[in-house]
Amino acid sequence: MAKEKEEKIEKADKNKEPKVQGSKSCDTNNSEVKPQSPEDTDVSVDDILSLPGVGSATADKLISAGYDTMMSIAVASPDEIMDATALGDSVARRIISAARNKLEMGFESGDILLEKRSRVMKIDIGCKALNELLGGGFESGAITECFGEFGSGKTQIAHLLCVRVQKQNPGCYAVYIDTENTFRPERIAQYAKGAGLDPTQVLQHIKVARAYNSDHQMLLAEKIEDLITKQKLDVKLVVVDSLTAHFRAEFVGRGTLADRQQKLNRHMHILLKLADTYNICVNVTNQVMARPDTFFGDPTAAIGGHIVAHASTFRMYLRKGKKNTRVAKLIDSPNLPEGEAGFVVETDKISDI
Ligand code: GTP
Ligand code: MG
Repeated sequence: MAKEKEEKIEKADKNKEPKVQGSKSCDTNNSEVKPQSPEDTDVSVDDILSLPGVGSATADKLISAGYDTMMSIAVASPDEIMDATALGDSVARRIISAARNKLEMGFESGDILLEKRSRVMKIDIGCKALNELLGGGFESGAITECFGEFGSGKTQIAHLLCVRVQKQNPGCYAVYIDTENTFRPERIAQYAKGAGLDPTQVLQHIKVARAYNSDHQMLLAEKIEDLITKQKLDVKLVVVDSLTAHFRAEFVGRGTLADRQQKLNRHMHILLKLADTYNICVNVTNQVMARPDTFFGDPTAAIGGHIVAHASTFRMYLRKGKKNTRVAKLIDSPNLPEGEAGFVVETDKISDI
């Protein structure tokens, strides 16, 4: 309990610190526009206590469950708050609605959005067909999901992105959340040589964290913001490889599906918020599963279902092609036509067929 109090005080103090608005690190290739950061909506513990129906015990629970900003409460669903705090439905609703009233939510004018779009960077992966499929490259401010069977090239693309983002933005950082222990510095070194970069320097600018379970994975994603705001790292790329492996292994059986989806949903939203707030390119990988209950259409489907599909801005389906080739199919994008691109994974690059 004492520890909880300490944490609470620490959080409250943190909230009193002067806010770093859109830290330097995140606006190298942009204009004056401040990202609408969650910092804007940070509040002190007192503010949370001022919400109707929230006493100090509830505030503690909310904060330790991660609801430590007005925004996080305002965008939560009553079910989430109920799960986290054991409050009743009507109180949860009242808290959310009060948090919403305290915030100026949501509306940005079109010209600001257009300006935001002009900051979008596209990471050139060095393979013409793949770049074209993605309208120029892997976009910042968005999540690109690569899904496909084993050996289809998901991890290779993720590794190469860590290198190519640095070629395009010298001095920037990539963050790699590795859930399957498949991050290989040797591969990075090879790709760095292929891109004409110094392998040691490139490796120094990749922050790798091994995630041991889904909770750990979620926590790591939440900590990325500290790298940007506290350590002032110019993070331009975040990779989660694999997004769903832990979730899939831990939540077995139909009865646990709702819990799994709810957690995945929170995870995706943390990633989306990072992408949007700091103009970061997020790349997640996802495996496919056989769907024995499918009578029509593709009998394989990405894991994570609608939650992952919906939160990803771009979705690419990768499969093995003839000989040593791979085929990428763009199946979901807000502004690009569906299409296919062939590529080959080589030792020091990914190239066109
Ligand atoms: P899972 O994580 O198992 O689902 O697969 P994945 O889609 O992540 O596969 P990955 O990206 O690791 O692709 C593996 C494939 O990349 C191998 O089958 C090889 O064809 C190719 N590959 C990996 N390393 C090298 C390399 O050093 N040289 C060459 N030429 N090809 C490589
Ligand atoms: Mg892999």
